Amino acid sequence: MNHSGNTPEKTRNIMFSPDIDPACHSDPGAWPATPRRTNTLSRVSHQVADVERVARAGHLGAVVWLTGLSGSGKSTLAMNLERKLFGAGFMVYVLDGDNLRHGLNSDLGFSPQSRRENTRRVGEAAALFADAGFVCIAASISPYAMDRDTARSTAKGRPFFELYLKADIETCEHRDPKGLYRLARSGQLRDFTGIDAPYDVPKAPDIVVDTVDQTLESCVEHCFEFLSCRLRTTR
Ligand SMILES: Nc1ncnc2c1ncn2[C@@H]1O[C@H](COP(=O)(O)OP(=O)(O)O)[C@@H](O)[C@H]1O
Ligand SMILES: [Mg+2]
Repeated sequence: MNHSGNTPEKTRNIMFSPDIDPACHSDPGAWPATPRRTNTLSRVSHQVADVERVARAGHLGAVVWLTGLSGSGKSTLAMNLERKLFGAGFMVYVLDGDNLRHGLNSDLGFSPQSRRENTRRVGEAAALFADAGFVCIAASISPYAMDRDTARSTAKGRPFFELYLKADIETCEHRDPKGLYRLARSGQLRDFTGIDAPYDVPKAPDIVVDTVDQTLESCVEHCFEFLSCRLRTTR
């Protein structure tokens, strides 16, 4: 168990499982798995209004999207920020990419198509949490800029903040909290972001969180202050 609570063995099992990546092993363009029948679907209205949720919570629902290389500090920051926001009275919940790969995204691997679908699902789930009035911290590599933009649109005008966890690949590799860089460098793990899979550095993130030069405490404090003053509706 490391600082962020990751369990390396579980992560490795997922990475090595040969048959969990439908995009690699069957039809690469097969999402959604069944066609949408939008012509026969309708929406049902909630009886609880947004303003009621906000009034009860004392803050807006929002998506806080943490993106960065593996080892940049997404999970660590997410969990510490969740702790801090919760302590300050926020309804807050972390959707951690690795955790979701044990459930919601357990059928996905690491091909480009799977990564896109992974990000899409995290975005949809985060938007639901924001709808419910939560500050949802989504921690996911989410390597493609266009998918992060889609996640922002999925939040449908609710506050959405893209936080770029800036750490160079050398630092991430040196940290290697899950031992994955070592595996990638030795050829035992393919399609690893930053090594043999791409990462689009955010062009205009809402915050750049420098996890190389700033301590964890100062990163948490900076993000907390940023969010707190933008989301609180009561003083
Ligand atoms: N300022 C910082 N913010 C976040 N993590 C940091 C920071 N400085 C060092 N670290 C360390 O970097 C590692 C990041 O690991 P992790 O949070 O699992 O990354 P990720 O979820 O992005 O893969 C942890 O061991 C953490 O203690
Ligand atoms: Mg993580």
